[in-house]
Amino acid sequence: MAKKSKKTAREDARPTVSKAALIRAAALARKSAVAPYSKFLVGAALLTRRGQVITGANVESASYGLTCCAERVALFKALTNGEKDFAAVAVVAKARGGATPCGACRQLLAEYAPKARVFVADCRKLKVIREFTVAGLLPGAFRSLD
Ligand code: THU
Repeated sequence: MAKKSKKTAREDARPTVSKAALIRAAALARKSAVAPYSKFLVGAALLTRRGQVITGANVESASYGLTCCAERVALFKALTNGEKDFAAVAVVAKARGGATPCGACRQLLAEYAPKARVFVADCRKLKVIREFTVAGLLPGAFRSLD
């Protein structure tokens, strides 16, 4: 008789999208950035545990403070699409070593994607990927619920 696996259905649903593929999705999304003020284009790609990829890019405003980062655009798209379970997020910018998410994005990631791996890369060197955890990027994140 076949041994019964102790794994839960959630653990079995391992994403099939590789780190490199997620970075490539973020690099492609970066091309959709609307950043006429800073000219700093950023792309993000979120990977759900079901294996779906949801991308975003930064959008700037003439009223600079209204700017929304690529990570938050991707996260808001995903959340409003009903996605709740995230395995990873990739961020691509033209920055040496890649750009890690800003403080505001870290807070949102800590709330909605606390277990996600964070991959970052420079758009000129997509094969060099640095990896972080959300908790590592924002230890002691603020939480109001529980
Ligand atoms: N930006 C992002 O999209 N993600 C980050 O994590 C940091 C910064 C954007 C915001 C703005 O449009 C431009 O990069 C320069 O700060």
